Parts: sequence; structure tokens; C-alpha cells
Amino acid sequence: MNAPSPLLTATSTPRQVRPPELNGKGRFDICSSTGTERAVLLLGFDWGTNKSCIKGAYGGGTDLAADLIVPTLVGYAKDGVVENLLPDNASALFGEDAIRHRLHLNLARPMMDGVIHDAAAARDFARHLRSLLDVPAGSEIRAVIGMPANAEVAARDQLREAVAGLFDRVILIPEPFLAALGFRDESRLRDRDYVDPIRNSLFIDIGGGTTDLCLVQGYFPTAKEQISLRFAGDRVDALLHDAIRRTYPDCELTSFKVRELKERHAFVGTASTAVVVSVLVNGKVRKLDITEQLAHACSALLGEVFTAAKQLIGLSSPDNVEQLLQNLILTGGGSRIRGLDTELQRLLAAEGYEQPRVQLAGERHREFVALGALKAARQARENQWQQVLK
Ligand SMILES: Nc1ncnc2c1ncn2[C@@H]1O[C@H](COP(=O)(O)OP(=O)(O)OP(=O)(O)O)[C@@H](O)[C@H]1O
Ligand SMILES: [Mg+2]
Repeated sequence: MNAPSPLLTATSTPRQVRPPELNGKGRFDICSSTGTERAVLLLGFDWGTNKSCIKGAYGGGTDLAADLIVPTLVGYAKDGVVENLLPDNASALFGEDAIRHRLHLNLARPMMDGVIHDAAAARDFARHLRSLLDVPAGSEIRAVIGMPANAEVAARDQLREAVAGLFDRVILIPEPFLAALGFRDESRLRDRDYVDPIRNSLFIDIGGGTTDLCLVQGYFPTAKEQISLRFAGDRVDALLHDAIRRTYPDCELTSFKVRELKERHAFVGTASTAVVVSVLVNGKVRKLDITEQLAHACSALLGEVFTAAKQLIGLSSPDNVEQLLQNLILTGGGSRIRGLDTELQRLLAAEGYEQPRVQLAGERHREFVALGALKAARQARENQWQQVLK
């Protein structure tokens, strides 16, 4: 058996944190008091492989006190960089600043496959995010943090270690469940036509490191009801990069450029027109037709999502499955691939599923995990918060 994490310090013995539970009315039990006199800043924290999003509010308040989206990237100044080249002669830059000054930095990605990959960079990145929060001295910071579905114990411990001393208490909750909670529109719960995503849906969150699928059926999902695939935007980038290299061996592109091309042109299904892009190779403009390469890379992701979706739909009870098929929701940056919703719907229908309906979470896809995490933070009971030691 694994030794309990030294970071758990609930009273005398470490305690297993129970996720928030729905009460009989389909809502979470709400903790009305934190039992302390200190101001408590509640955070919903989506620590993404690609981008991190934080939504914060003081306990009980409705206004957002923090609202950040930062690329999950740390850049350390290269040896010998000329003085005053980097802003404030910083030894480390983060997020957009790291991207902007990347030529003079050694870049480190704190997360890979949705979990911490570089512990030192993760700690520095978390410290940076903490510095962006304007918190009065003496306040307590409590964060609900998203994790990939079924994240392992070691990954959870690493995450707690990275935020120890920066946040006072944490709860870790699977990201697709938080996405469903964030997507839920409470103002429409009484509307008879509104299908509550928390009641019966399949959430598919396609990120950079992982694609997380989760059956959400009115209670906290079991391990069986969640699938985390290490196949998401980063793998699509790698497939696209390889395919471009094979076709145009004399045109080496940077991984930033490949991602940019993907984000602008990615599609599944039939291309309406050829995708011909202009890129700079050795200072000269070259036109490359990357239609087939994009189709190959993006359809590989679609295939993975289709297989995993079928697996989870198969777990739904006969009474629930009809409604579930009306509520298949794509979110995360990867959901922006053109045609992904209609192609997934077409594949499911061709497989014999009864009138499946795949919807896109839409423009605010980046925020749903953090929004859901903030809702969960507001509704968590006192005994669900884990203390993290410095
Ligand atoms: N328009 C687009 N078309 C295709 N892919 C896109 C588009 N916009 C963003 N992406 C991809 O989405 C991925 C990032 O998604 P997201 O921001 O949801 O990831 P993340 O939450 O940081 O990662 P994870 O959840 O795996 O930790 C990247 O691979 C990015 O290139
Ligand atoms: Mg994500």
C-alpha cells in the first residue's frame, strides 16, 4: 500500500478527501461557513498542459477577485544573455512573456500529459501565479484544482507539493467533471427544455496533453466512468510535424509554427478547399499544401475519441442512454478542430446509435474547468479541504 502523502495534515491522521456530493436536489451540499475569521480566497484552478486558468472569489462573494489565463510555460534566461535584454533582467519569465522572449530563454514545460512533468518549473510557475493574486496579508487561499480523469496517486502528490505554501488548502477533482459543472447554467435549471449537463451527459475535454472523457450522471463519477487518453493536441502536433517533414524534408518548421498552422487550419471530414500555407524557410517564402497531413493528424484524434466515447456510452443504463446521446459535449482547445462535432456525430450514427447529438461547449471552453472548480470550491464542505504544508 502507498504511504499516505506527508502533505495531508488533517488533524492527527491523514484523511481521504471525499469529493463534493450532490444532495437529493441535484445540487452540491454547500458549506456556509469556513469556520475561520480570516478572509478566504476561493480559487478554481485549471492547471492545463497548454494553458492555465484561474477564477477566484472571496468566500460568499459573487464578484471575481481573480480571473487569469496564462500559457503554462516557464523560460529561464540563457547563460550570457546581454544585460537589459529581458524585462527587469529577469532570470525567469512566464506565460506570454516566455513565448515572446523565447529566443533568449531555455523553455521548460511544467506539465506533460496533464500532470506535472518538471517539478522545479511547476513550482516556479505556481509561485508566479500566486504572485499575480492580489491577496491581503493574513488571507487564506483555498483552491480546487483540476486533474486528468483517474490521475495516479503520485501525480496528485506532486501537484500538492507544487502548491504547498502557496495555497493553504486544496481539493483535487477530475477535469471533465469540473468542465460539466462549469458548463452548467444554473439560471436555466427550472427551464423544462434545458438538459442539465450534470444530470446526464458525456463530457469530452480535448486538451494539449490529455483527452479526458467523463460520464456525468448526477453524482461524482467513478473510476470506470472516466477515461483519460494521452492523445490530445500535443500528439496531433507531433503527427502533423512528422507528416510535414516526410513530405517536405527540406522545410524544417518549429513546433510553435506547426501548432500555429494546426490551430488555424485543423479539420476533420472532407476539406472544403486545399490547405496551402506560406511559411518562411531559410528566409524565403515557401507554399506548402498540408491538407492531407492535417487530415491524417486530426482524424487520428477523432478515431481515439470515437472509441473511448463508445466505451463510456456502453456503461449508461438503458433508461438513461437516449437522453445521454442528446448530451455529448466537446470542450477544451482541441474541440476547435473544424468539423469534429459533426464527424463524431456522423460516426456514432453510422455505428447505429439513435440520433446522437454532439455539441460544442463553445467560445468559453478555456474557462469551464476553472469555473466549475470555483463552483466546487464554494460548495465544498469544510472536511473536504486538504491542508498543504509549507
Ligand atoms: N483552433 C484550434 N484548432 C485546433 N486545436 C486547437 C485550436 N485552439 C487550440 N487548440 C489546441 O488545443 C490544445 C490546448 O487545449 P487546452 O487549452 O484545453 O489544453 P490544456 O487544458 O492546457 O491541456 P490539458 O487539459 O491536456 O492539461 C493545444 O494542443 C492547442 O494547440
Ligand atoms: Mg485542460
